Amino acid sequence: MYEDGIDGDSLKEVVAKGIKYIDIGAAVLPKPLFRPDVDEVDDDDLLENIPNEPADSVRDGIYRSSTSSIFTNTLDPLVASTSSREAGAPDEFDIAPKIPTRYARTLRHEFNAVVVEHHLKWAPLCVETNIAGPAQEPRRLGRYDFHHADAIVDWAIKHNMKVKGHVLVWHVTSPTEILEEMTPEQVREQLRRHIFTTMAHFRGRIKVWDVVNEALAPDGSLAENIFYRKLGPGYIEECFRWAHEADPDAMLLYNDNKVEGMNGPNKRKADAFFHLLAGLVKNGVPIHGCGIQAHFNAAGTGRNRPPTPRMVKNQIHRLGNLGLKVNISEMDVRVSQLPPNLRQIAQRQIYHDIVAAALTEPAFDGIWLWGFTDRHTWVTHFYYDDEPLIFDEEYGRKEAYYGLRDALSSIVPGEKFGAGVLLDTDEDEQGNCWGHQWIQEPVEDCLDASFSKPENDGVVGADRPDWELT
Ligand code: G3I
Repeated sequence: MYEDGIDGDSLKEVVAKGIKYIDIGAAVLPKPLFRPDVDEVDDDDLLENIPNEPADSVRDGIYRSSTSSIFTNTLDPLVASTSSREAGAPDEFDIAPKIPTRYARTLRHEFNAVVVEHHLKWAPLCVETNIAGPAQEPRRLGRYDFHHADAIVDWAIKHNMKVKGHVLVWHVTSPTEILEEMTPEQVREQLRRHIFTTMAHFRGRIKVWDVVNEALAPDGSLAENIFYRKLGPGYIEECFRWAHEADPDAMLLYNDNKVEGMNGPNKRKADAFFHLLAGLVKNGVPIHGCGIQAHFNAAGTGRNRPPTPRMVKNQIHRLGNLGLKVNISEMDVRVSQLPPNLRQIAQRQIYHDIVAAALTEPAFDGIWLWGFTDRHTWVTHFYYDDEPLIFDEEYGRKEAYYGLRDALSSIVPGEKFGAGVLLDTDEDEQGNCWGHQWIQEPVEDCLDASFSKPENDGVVGADRPDWELT
């Protein structure tokens, strides 16, 4: 059970003592932020203020159930969110708990920044206009409903926490069915309108944005998503230029996954990530940084194996040489496929070593977890039961928490910079490979820097999220 202030400094208290400012952020969901966990309150009068849980509404249609893939939930997120909202269905935003939830207390005590996990994306924000319109009329995008995202953003600002905007352009959470019906010029107009509308609404409150997310296919080619097909490969550059026009003061980022390590398990995609960014910088596109997501599976093999600290350090270094800032943007570490006795060792070492290595690079400016308690993680809804985060289901600090805190301590004056992690090699003095206590692949593979085999690189131009292909 989490209680403020026990057991040493919090993560943000450690970071505040560091030689440079680092974001220590977490992705936030509205329900646990504004509504106590079911076993959290035994105070009836508090409960009576909570409307009945809306039927497992089909809002935002993606990820609706643990078994479904986001590609089988064909329900258009726009229609779902409008219907449940306009139907007056109560939702997690319609109440203000009388006491801060455990989730809120832990979040504001441990982190100095938040990112909105879902409710700041295109589909949840923008609702269709003519749902009941004549069937033959083209479906159009209409008004924006910011009240969900505003509730989270304003909560964070009230608690002096930075907010990262995530994400303006991601084909997976765009009103794709409606965009498919449009001409390229109409899509271009809608995309530009979305960027300007969203950034203008939050201007002054959100100063750093993930502009484009996951535009690369597993093999490093550009994903042939709706924007690529309608606007061509130049859409990425266009989006950054529109974002800069919408808010010239904003820091603009490109975000992707399985790109974390140079010459590592995803060599081709990591190289493509670097070359994509190098090209944008060379063309004078207003891009200021990038996010490497770090959705790791400790039991992963082949392309799904975590990169070593050396690989991550080298990737951040070459991105920094482009003049870009780099953050770890969505870290979580799945362990449930490991033997139980290896799970905590593996998770602690990955959080510790990867972050300590990243912190040795001047370009590195933040570590963002994708959630922070195992009670609320996307992994359980999308993959299987797992414990990928640093607080357990009762908000207790896990071994991984202490590993991350020790890594963050490495930038505090007087502490050991790099935290003793292998940075120039992948094997220790005894010839043991990094992670040898828990890695599930033959250890010799670890020494082969380019052990991503072409056949493992996935489909050319695939627009399915890479992490879905694991
Ligand atoms: O808020 C509603 C809730 O009212 C309703 O009861 C519930 C059940 O229908 O759905 C809730 O919305 C869900 C939302 O997550 C919040 O839990 C949406 O249906 C669901 O589609 C949404 O999934 C998110 C997904 O992005 C799409 O936005 C995941 O939480 C989130 O972890 C995931 O995050 C992505 C990053 O943006 C990009 N990188 C990969 C990462 C993992 O997929």
